[in-house]
Amino acid sequence: MRIAAVIAAVAALLTACGQEQGIAPQRMADAVFAVIEADRASYTQKVVNRLQNEDKVIKADEHWQDSQALPLPAQMLRMGAERVAEQDAGFNYALLSLWAINKQNKPRTDLEKQGLQYVMDNPGKNFYGRETLGDTEYFTAVYPDVAVSPACVGCHNEHIDSPRTDFKLGDTMGGVVIRIPL
Ligand code: HEC
Repeated sequence: MRIAAVIAAVAALLTACGQEQGIAPQRMADAVFAVIEADRASYTQKVVNRLQNEDKVIKADEHWQDSQALPLPAQMLRMGAERVAEQDAGFNYALLSLWAINKQNKPRTDLEKQGLQYVMDNPGKNFYGRETLGDTEYFTAVYPDVAVSPACVGCHNEHIDSPRTDFKLGDTMGGVVIRIPL
């Protein structure tokens, strides 16, 4: 009897899912961000921090190819984003900043600028908006990227290409932008 009830409930759920018009863009963006964030944190803590700072066997360096070093976390993120952009994945993403070290990481659209400013001004909050680029309307989400360790602040403030030199621990330094065509 109870099994029959469970089967009926699952069948009803499957029917409901089948009628669903697809996942809402904000839910999709939040889910994609969860994966990006988990990968970024795992790589930073379990690879870079462990091997560079704890075990001291290999460094992470911007010029990792020439110096037999690990890529920086931001470079790992960009490599992943570039591979996704090569596919027809139904979304794209990037780690951007209003004070980017790499000019490729500067915002390009008004909404990106607005979103990056918003996450700077409203700590802990995400930004969601819509923008039309060419003939396509996009759902665009911006998630804050925070200086969680002194290494973030130190490296950026001292980097020769950094347009900003007064980042502090806990500052929002930029944001992950996820764009989904509607
Ligand atoms: C050893 C130096 C170094 C450390 C440590 C570092 N970064 Fe970066 N970061 C860079 C470089 C170099 C880039 C540009 C990478 C590229 O080519 O896309 C970058 C890119 C970024 C970007 C994209 C915008 C830009 O400046 O190009 C953000 C946002 C960012 N880092 C935030 C952080 C945060 C937050 C941390 C700490 C969790 C951190 N960084 C740690 C060097 C560093």
